[in-house]
Amino acid sequence: MSVIGCGYLGAVHAAAMASIGHDVIGIDVDAEKIATLASGTAPFFEPQLSELLVDGLASGRLSFSSRMADAAGAHVHFLAVGTPQVPGGHAADLRYVDQAFDALLPHLRAGDVIAGKSTVPVGTAARLTTRLVGTGATLVWNPEFLREGWAVHDTLTPDRLVVGAEADAAGEQAVTVLREAYGAAVESGTPFLVTDLATAELVKGAANAFLATKISFINAMAEIAEAAGADVALLADALGHDTRIGRRYLGAGIGFGGGCLPKDIRAFAARAEELGRGEAVGFLREVDAINLRRRDRAVQIVVDALGGLVFGRRIAVLGAAFKPFSDDIRDSPALDVAVRLRGLGADVVVTDPAAIDNAAAAHPQLGYARDRDDALREADAVVIVTEWDEYRRDLSPERAGGLVRGRIIVDGRNCLDAAAWRAAGWQYHGMGRR
Ligand code: UDX
Repeated sequence: MSVIGCGYLGAVHAAAMASIGHDVIGIDVDAEKIATLASGTAPFFEPQLSELLVDGLASGRLSFSSRMADAAGAHVHFLAVGTPQVPGGHAADLRYVDQAFDALLPHLRAGDVIAGKSTVPVGTAARLTTRLVGTGATLVWNPEFLREGWAVHDTLTPDRLVVGAEADAAGEQAVTVLREAYGAAVESGTPFLVTDLATAELVKGAANAFLATKISFINAMAEIAEAAGADVALLADALGHDTRIGRRYLGAGIGFGGGCLPKDIRAFAARAEELGRGEAVGFLREVDAINLRRRDRAVQIVVDALGGLVFGRRIAVLGAAFKPFSDDIRDSPALDVAVRLRGLGADVVVTDPAAIDNAAAAHPQLGYARDRDDALREADAVVIVTEWDEYRRDLSPERAGGLVRGRIIVDGRNCLDAAAWRAAGWQYHGMGRR
């Protein structure tokens, strides 16, 4: 197999496929990233990835290259390059998909299968298929649903596998190849859904749109709860017991970020507009707006808690990554809150177990402390914006109270035991909580 594109998705996919017995070559245009991977080091923070890389390289089944020609000879080619937001617009930027596809074309042999994993606007696979005429290769779409921080787990034990293919003999043959490629996961009963190309592309966008909508729904309820004097966390618990609703993705707070949900819902809406069905997903604009309002709200809570004066006040910001178990700061609500507080003149000190280097490179204007306690020292207020165990579970209000100047805590993820913090003399502020 080849895996083209070795970012958060491709690097994990390559290592995972090698771990289940395939011969895999990972390809990326970024020679530095390839050198890092080839040395058995994960180029980003992802639990279990380094172990898989080391094992795969040692077994001889896993290798990396920055030359597309090295993909020749592989029977299955997974396309896993990024599809960021276009500069200045909402649509997905498909230039990396197109470039990778074109670079792969001369190396294809009859019978090869290309499995697209990148998140693309519906219609992309049909467009790419036309370029395969004369090669004898077949394109299928095999969207990926992994979560950062759980990527190895989600890749090896997915909750479903989706393969979109054309309904002809070559399409059926390609589906069989993928079914075999996923081997143990399929044998252990993982649902394996075969669809047409367009449906497979849509599944990914629809899944992310649904998850984003669920998070924004509860954040909208948080706004109502704030106005009504209710508690959104208790509300979410009560809703979540309804098995038709479920408690997951009902965590109210500063909202969603990362390299997927924000840009994927925008690209989904942009594609719907192109298809003349913009109104069908008009609600995604609200989902986006609700989400961004939560960042404003968190900043407002800090400002109010400090009596309206943040200029020159020292604020400890616990978290920079868009979520725990990740060093990813793409569209991170955590960093956004820190940047806004800094913009108001606060003396902001950010700490994070994994994302400080990425954060400091992107936002050198912020103060940083690698040690959590150093960040807390002399703080006038503390804001928790990424629910790492180091803050959520391991930080006692008594210990923190001994370090800070002012016992004000804003819980941007509703992840702390409010009663315990209040009992230790803290002024506790949640998001949408009494
Ligand atoms: C997401 C999808 O879950 C995954 O299936 C897809 O393949 C890629 O996009 P990921 O971006 O890794 O994965 O993060 P996820 O765990 O879904 O969290 C996204 C954001 O939502 C984070 O910022 C998280 O903090 C936030 N979130 C999540 C909430 O604010 N509340 C919740 O209840 C859950």
